[in-house]
Amino acid sequence: MQKVEKIRRVKGKLRTPSDKSITHRSFILGALARGETEIVRPLFSEDTKATLQILKMLGTEVQEETDRVIVKGRNYIFREPENILDAKNSGTTARIMTGVLSTQPFFSVIIGDKSLRQRPMLRVVEPLRNMGANIDGREEGNKLPLAIRGGKLRGVSYFNKRASAQVKTALLLAGLRAEGITQVVEPYLSRDHTERMLKLFGGEIITISEEKGHIVKVKGEQELQGTEVYCPADPSSAAYFAALATLAPEGQLILKEVLLNPTRGGFFKKLLEMGGDIKFEDFKEVSNEPVADIVINPVNRLKAVKVSPSEVPTLIDEIPILAVLMALAEGVSEVRGAKELRYKESDRIKAIVVNLRKMGVQVEELDDGFIIEGTEKLKGAKIETFNDHRIAMAFTVAGLITDEEVIIDNPECVAISYPNFWNDIFSVTEF
Ligand code: S3P
Repeated sequence: MQKVEKIRRVKGKLRTPSDKSITHRSFILGALARGETEIVRPLFSEDTKATLQILKMLGTEVQEETDRVIVKGRNYIFREPENILDAKNSGTTARIMTGVLSTQPFFSVIIGDKSLRQRPMLRVVEPLRNMGANIDGREEGNKLPLAIRGGKLRGVSYFNKRASAQVKTALLLAGLRAEGITQVVEPYLSRDHTERMLKLFGGEIITISEEKGHIVKVKGEQELQGTEVYCPADPSSAAYFAALATLAPEGQLILKEVLLNPTRGGFFKKLLEMGGDIKFEDFKEVSNEPVADIVINPVNRLKAVKVSPSEVPTLIDEIPILAVLMALAEGVSEVRGAKELRYKESDRIKAIVVNLRKMGVQVEELDDGFIIEGTEKLKGAKIETFNDHRIAMAFTVAGLITDEEVIIDNPECVAISYPNFWNDIFSVTEF
């Protein structure tokens, strides 16, 4: 349990931890490449540690230092693991590694924790089966544990209707070793870190963006070459502090080196649309990704905003903290086309609705989103995190600007993506 009290002001500069999606990919591509990859400033969190541990169990040599990891690439030749591979709470690990293991001519089993065992896997299993992988699992392959026997695959063309970057990545990484061409088509562009990073590793990849969809193609039988990858600050983690600095009674906060990839930029776009006082400074490009510092000042009252289905992939992980901003905005805000939220680390639509109602907000629950009637003040409450890091962090921010006391039931769950969250909160606030 963690008691959260109202802050007086925010202050200073903060470099939030490195991006989770980029860290997972840098470890995995490093292991798939030929030669060494040096990953500078990776995120060390429960999720990324699960990926690294699985790669080690597949025979990958890894050297871990305080702020870097060196991965000795295995050029797509792994060792049959002696034991089951545990993705723990990490959907990204389970889904992307299912793609990688589908290329390997041996037997492996992936498991996960209670939450991950409830999450759907058929979205990767089905297209990988079409490529020729043998995959079995609970509920005909939709739920972990999955048992995989991979081998020689053939390229396929796949319509990724949910615009999932995990699915896209699993298929592209399998496609790099398949026969022929693998093509993934998405209705909306999901985060494109894999496409950008594959280019750093010397991969040949074609991306075409058209009105009717986004196409990514890779030729099979390619080799990747080890390289250096720098991991910038995670915009999903920075979002909690941008929201806090916006809602704080006074002060200013500077967030350093935040990844500003357009496929991840939806939260900051919406915050501007709501009337947030944010400025971007010192733009640069690192490891093929755009990065900038963000300066945030408080504003008196935000305006309500609507999120449409096509915008959802660009802010999917930020919806819990966006909902907190919406709860304090003037007018009626709305999120639609976000049914995927029900299949995250918790059912996030339910978690948002339950907790906002506890804080005295009027919320209508929809099958694929919610409608929030903004209020001027939140009430104290005992927050149910459902063991979900993003719910815990979003409602901590809500608590930090609420007069009455807020209690977070499982504060440790932030370690999934942000182990130092509580220290960072105390370092940039005054009570
Ligand atoms: C991720 C993709 C998204 C996101 C998740 C990380 C990734 O999931 O919600 O936190 O690193 O590829 P989907 O692929 O299910 O959209």
